[in-house]
Amino acid sequence: MRHVRQMARGSRKIAIDQSASLGNSSSSSGLRIRCDDRKFPRRLNLGERNSLWKNPGVTEDEALFGDSVADNYREYLEPVIFRPWAELLVNFVGLDKGQTVLDVAAGTGVVSRAAAARVGSGSRVIASDVSAAMLAQVPNCFPSNEVALQSLECSATALELPDSSVDAVFCQQGLQFIPDRPAAAREMFRVLRPGGKVDVAVWLSSPSVHPFIDYGDTLKAQRMSEPFPGAFDSSFLSMTADEVESVLHAAGFKDTEVRIEHIELEWPSVRHAVSGVFGTPYGPIVAALDSDVRESVLEDLQRRMTSP
Ligand SMILES: C[S@@+](CC[C@H](N)C(=O)[O-])C[C@H]1O[C@@H](n2cnc3c(N)ncnc32)[C@H](O)[C@@H]1O
Repeated sequence: MRHVRQMARGSRKIAIDQSASLGNSSSSSGLRIRCDDRKFPRRLNLGERNSLWKNPGVTEDEALFGDSVADNYREYLEPVIFRPWAELLVNFVGLDKGQTVLDVAAGTGVVSRAAAARVGSGSRVIASDVSAAMLAQVPNCFPSNEVALQSLECSATALELPDSSVDAVFCQQGLQFIPDRPAAAREMFRVLRPGGKVDVAVWLSSPSVHPFIDYGDTLKAQRMSEPFPGAFDSSFLSMTADEVESVLHAAGFKDTEVRIEHIELEWPSVRHAVSGVFGTPYGPIVAALDSDVRESVLEDLQRRMTSP
């Protein structure tokens, strides 16, 4: 196991654990920001707005997480990577019985399920996402029949919910993919009741967000086409703590708390880790290759993921 230390902007120390041999385990680092209160929003000036738009080339596209991606995300990535993070995220907020919870950029619903297990009967969980294919997976294995599950197919920047209508908002690994992040944060603020909580998790800015960096690097090395502009630039995967805090503060949230966490992730097999590429927007590009080319791309990916 190799340990790398980096200094993030603002002199925050970030420790990144990297797995040198993938057969055993892989790790990922992320940060979570929780806000305990809503206060009055202030207007952004143009300079601030530009600095919050990290990836202006990325456009909102529900097709990036389409049918085959959703199936493979649920099978390969959700159990290994996103479930352990969802448990941590939901525990951090401390939900009460009977609450209404909103999961923004819910994907296949891993956070929605973790929240439903805690709020219990008489409560409501709303899973929202731009991708109908991802949302279609949410009811599978939902932990309780007594929790009302609502799926909301809409952009995080235009939530189809009334003002002050939810007790807690979660957004796990979604904010970085939303082109207009300030608008998404303003929507979270608008729908949250006064005194409610928002908990946002993103990968921490680093050159090594495994396994996604391996997937992107392999496709780039194989000179394959990008599923969206900048898809092979790993910076689109992550945000710094300062960036997340700025976006939330600009939307009106106060009293933010930043936590940087590490989780050791264990893949059941190298093949499982390699197959995870099909659960990302790169997946359809790899799947469309002729079988011999596809196999050689997957072999290259396996080499990268297992090399020290
Ligand atoms: C990496 S997945 C995370 C899913 C889920 N939160 C989890 O932890 O497994 C990112 C999700 O963000 C969604 N997404 C991207 N842009 C969005 C937007 N503008 N509004 C709502 N959802 C969006 C994608 O469709 C995808 O389901």
